[in-house]
Amino acid sequence: MKTYKIITYGCQMNKSDSERIAGVLETTGYKKAIDRQIPDILVFNACSVRQSAIDRIYGQANLIRKLKTKNYKLKTIITGCVLPKDRQKFKKIFDLVFNIKDLKRLPVFLRYLERGKQIIVENSLKNENISYFKIRPRQENRFSARIPISFGCGRFCSYCAVPYTRGLEINRPAKDILKEAKAFVTAGAKEIWLLGQTVSSWKDPQNKNYEFTDLLQAVEKIPGEFWVRFESSYVLDFDDKLINFLAKAKKVSNYVNLPLQSATNRVLKAMNRRYTLEQYLKVLEKMKERIPDFSFSTDIIVGFPGETEKQFRNTYNIFKRIKPTMAYIAKYSPRPGTMAEKLFKDRISPSQKQSRFTKLDKLLKQTAKENMAREVGKTLKVLVEEWLSTKKECLGKTRNFKAIRFPSAENLVGRFVRVTIVKAREFEIEGVMAN
Ligand code: 5AD
Ligand code: SF4
Repeated sequence: MKTYKIITYGCQMNKSDSERIAGVLETTGYKKAIDRQIPDILVFNACSVRQSAIDRIYGQANLIRKLKTKNYKLKTIITGCVLPKDRQKFKKIFDLVFNIKDLKRLPVFLRYLERGKQIIVENSLKNENISYFKIRPRQENRFSARIPISFGCGRFCSYCAVPYTRGLEINRPAKDILKEAKAFVTAGAKEIWLLGQTVSSWKDPQNKNYEFTDLLQAVEKIPGEFWVRFESSYVLDFDDKLINFLAKAKKVSNYVNLPLQSATNRVLKAMNRRYTLEQYLKVLEKMKERIPDFSFSTDIIVGFPGETEKQFRNTYNIFKRIKPTMAYIAKYSPRPGTMAEKLFKDRISPSQKQSRFTKLDKLLKQTAKENMAREVGKTLKVLVEEWLSTKKECLGKTRNFKAIRFPSAENLVGRFVRVTIVKAREFEIEGVMAN
């Protein structure tokens, strides 16, 4: 039997891609390799958001060579978010380099590979023609489903690789999304992730008046007990219609990832973010006021070209004021071909970036814990994701996406339970099951 293994880097979107890659490989006759087995197909699903993730893949070249001496049939593939420049370099390491948009063509590529050919796909399909969405995924776990609702991004934030790796945004028709969502719920999904690089900007390509809020409303109407989550959002999409819907939603999560990136308008402008700090704060305040038990995370980049110590301090102070439950803090990393890389010198030293990162990271521990502490004493509904058989403990998430652990002799994975919160840590709450 032919086997495969997929190594995934990056965000939820990449994880969703990996589920679709697995889907294609399984329909082509491959089975997932068991843990230590050397597979026949090894896929790297790459992330180009930061140089470090790409460097890690370059670092695997020797390992790949070694594996090939142990399984001479092994073919290696790289796909996902790869910049054109890296695509050229990866030719030296991999048997197949292809654009994730061309996933539907993978079985054809595999036939060539089996005949010992190397394939580098330079000219991938145009966005309009991609059949990527039609592929049936092989879910990582049955109770949590990922549904890509858009692909790519055309906002061109000056630091970001995505418009160059995935191309401009295309939206998936509402009827296809709803069909997939219904099928997942029928098959037992308890959590549905709607995914897109700017998921909140989604509009039905067949009816421009049908917006993200309408889609959420329609998903919420699917009968069954499940939660709906979405990622990643863009603050300007949060108009009153969307916020008011989130305020009364039952299944759609009261957690939002709302990237700020920097709290200084000049830096935001250089990043080509299209909002000001004031606009961001206004939206966030509204959400905090109107959405019950609202919780949010944010993304911050430290050390963007030209970010002064004073501007960083400003981000620090705003961060302290808005108090996110979670933050994805990144040190700026120039991505080849992006506007920021072309226009600005990456002048801020690695140690300065590190120092800003550490300061924010320390602050995050405080704001996170404050958020976690707010739940103590409450009894919350929890979706169980993991059972630690040796510790007899369950791990899960609340509706507002807080990580939780509680003792349980029974494996409750994939089930909703009620848990009374007794203790808060920095990034986790602890509780006991309520009767
Ligand atoms: N350098 C550092 N962080 C980046 N991100 C995206 N591109 C870069 C880059 N070149 C971060 C942003 C984004 C998150 C997904 O990754 O904060 O929101
Ligand atoms: Fe990248 Fe900006 Fe698009 Fe997000 S909105 S994917 S940061 S270009």
